[in-house]
Order: sequence, then structure tokens, then C-alpha cells
Amino acid sequence: MNEHMQSNNVHVIDHPLVQHKLSLMRNKEASTNTFRRLLNELSMLMAYEVTRDMPLQEVEIETPLEVTRAKVIDGKKLVFVSILRAGTGILDGMLSVVPGARVGHIGLYRDPKSLMAVEYYFKLPENVEERDIIVVDPMLATGNSAIAAVERLKELNPKSIKFVCLLTCPEGVAALQKAHPDVPIYTAAIDRQLNEHGYILPGLGDAGDRMFGTK
Ligand code: URA
Repeated sequence: MNEHMQSNNVHVIDHPLVQHKLSLMRNKEASTNTFRRLLNELSMLMAYEVTRDMPLQEVEIETPLEVTRAKVIDGKKLVFVSILRAGTGILDGMLSVVPGARVGHIGLYRDPKSLMAVEYYFKLPENVEERDIIVVDPMLATGNSAIAAVERLKELNPKSIKFVCLLTCPEGVAALQKAHPDVPIYTAAIDRQLNEHGYILPGLGDAGDRMFGTK
């Protein structure tokens, strides 16, 4: 898969399949079912990119013909951390590609007036200091939830943190990078701008509502 690397540690995954599926998701006529299926497929493709630098080790394996050395993933398992509730949509796809990963959840809601993130849930696996974390949330908009989630995760001293979203905007990228310049961002697109209600334009609307059919 060919990934276009931009400056400032932002990786735009410009694979044609990713771009095609994202365009279908933007369409307001896409049903809840279609939206969820596309998000699932897209997440599998993004998992492929974000795990590209996972370390490998060689182990001995006996094939039906002989003993050989072959590569397997090294070290402690990855942790996917889903920001509730919309992160669930990405988590499912990623877990189908990396089924052995551990999973954490952070419950954050956006205060509709201040647009600030308020935490209501936090549950992570043990030994996070020996693990790499991949935070998932479909929309990196104001960046407030992402910043709060990463801040909270850093308290646990993980080996590394990456952030994966479907869609972002210049404001979201700038905010997250300013607060956490060490956290690489993986996204399928950087849209034009944020509107005054904290929505990405042109965007795809409210990702949670669209995947769960709540509006
Ligand atoms: N969250 C969404 O679901 N959509 C946006 O456009 C911004 C934040």
C-alpha cells in the first residue's frame, strides 16, 4: 500500500480503496448499514498502514517439509484505545485485522457549548508501559477529545501512542500536534475547515449518529 507521508508527522492514507470508500461514506444518502460496513472496511485498510512499523522477530517453525525460521510479530500486544462512542466503528475493523490486540476505552463527550471534552469512563488493560497504543476516533475535529485522551494515556507511560482517524481538518491537526507533537496522526483525508459548531467541512456529518442511526 502506498502511503503519502506529509510533514509534521501526519500520514494521509491515499490508497485508492481508502479514498473511494471515504467518498461513499460522505454521501448523505448512504444508509446506516452502508456507512457502518464502509467504516469497517476502511478501518481494516487503515490498520494495515498504522501497524506497518510493528517489530518482527524470527521463530522456528516446522512446515510439512522442513524446519525453518519465520517472522512473527515481536513483543507485547498492541492496545487499541477507542474514544467512545464513535471510536467503536474503527475498533471493530482494526480488531478483525489484529485480533490479538488488547482494547481500552475512554468515554469522552463534547460539551455542546464549550466543545471541551468531559471524561466519564476510562478502562485500560494492565502493563500499558510495555505496550504501544493506537487511539481510534473517526473525526479529529477541534482536537479537544483527542488531546484529553492522549494526556490521560500518557499518565500510564505507554511505549508509544499513535492516533488514527478517518477524517480531520487543519484546525484539528494543528491542535493535536501543538499539544502532543510526539503523536503521529494517521487519517484518510484532511478536509477544508471546521465550522462554528465544531463540525468538519465538507466532512460526513456526525460520525456517531451516522454509524448508529441515532438521528
Ligand atoms: N464529530 C463528528 O462526528 N463530525 C464532525 O464533523 C466533527 C466531530
